[in-house]
Amino acid sequence: MVKGRDVIEVTALSEHLGGEITSIDARSIGRDTSLEAVKSLLFEHQLLCFRDQNLTPQEMLDFTRLFGEPDPHVLQQFALPGFPDIVVLSNIVENGRPLGNRKEGFGWHTDLTYMARPAAYTILYSLEVPPEGGETLFASMYKAYDTLGDDEKERMRPLKGRYSYLELYNKRDHAEPLTEEQRARTPDVSHPLVRIHPETGREGMYLNLDDCIGVDGGGETDGLALVSRLFSYTTENFEYRHRWRPHDLLIWDNRGALHTATPYDTERHRRLIYRTSVRGEVPIGWTEAVEPLSSN
Ligand SMILES: [Fe+2]
Repeated sequence: MVKGRDVIEVTALSEHLGGEITSIDARSIGRDTSLEAVKSLLFEHQLLCFRDQNLTPQEMLDFTRLFGEPDPHVLQQFALPGFPDIVVLSNIVENGRPLGNRKEGFGWHTDLTYMARPAAYTILYSLEVPPEGGETLFASMYKAYDTLGDDEKERMRPLKGRYSYLELYNKRDHAEPLTEEQRARTPDVSHPLVRIHPETGREGMYLNLDDCIGVDGGGETDGLALVSRLFSYTTENFEYRHRWRPHDLLIWDNRGALHTATPYDTERHRRLIYRTSVRGEVPIGWTEAVEPLSSN
């Protein structure tokens, strides 16, 4: 029998977002457990944590593919050997070689806004976690948007954020400047500040501060100040703090949630986490949603 959503037990992880599932083996999804049921719960909770999973790298990839096409990370030096779609996040050094990236993910963001098709989902699978610190924080842009007044929502709908990989790159601690070729491969992109979810139709704000270089449309005079204010409002009021256990499998929907890594004592503790992401669609806002109708 295929398990539907009515028989998948979920416990809310916070009042804002996150659902914990303890009764499902993630390898059964698509066979004994309905993928549609899992997706429906994911859309409702924005983030799902499957506890006590035991996945091989291939099984993690199979799980990722249930949700779409994996998006290989640009930092291929941290890919798991033999698995270009799996990035290793770790402070462990073996035989003088770091197993993974130890600096990834600090600062609130939603993944890959500098791409024309930002990541729809990100998946993390923990193998070793520190006993303290190293939590991942999440914040719901949907819940924040829902509390805004109608006037503010109306004002935001025509606006588009402009995002730049170059801006992000320059803010980080990189020794080498981007080459001309790398710059040509990462042109600036624009995404609506109010995004409509392609599968649920839910409307929410879609913001990233790290790589935002401006806001276009609607005569907005100080778009960056607006993005900054809404960003702080969301992260300060609609947060969930995920305290990792070994063998947690986390998936979240980047279209309505922000996240950030937090530090831990890298001298005393080990951390080993695998990461994949799923390529998303070109973000749809009010302009894009209305245009096809009006052109008929
Ligand atoms: Fe991220």
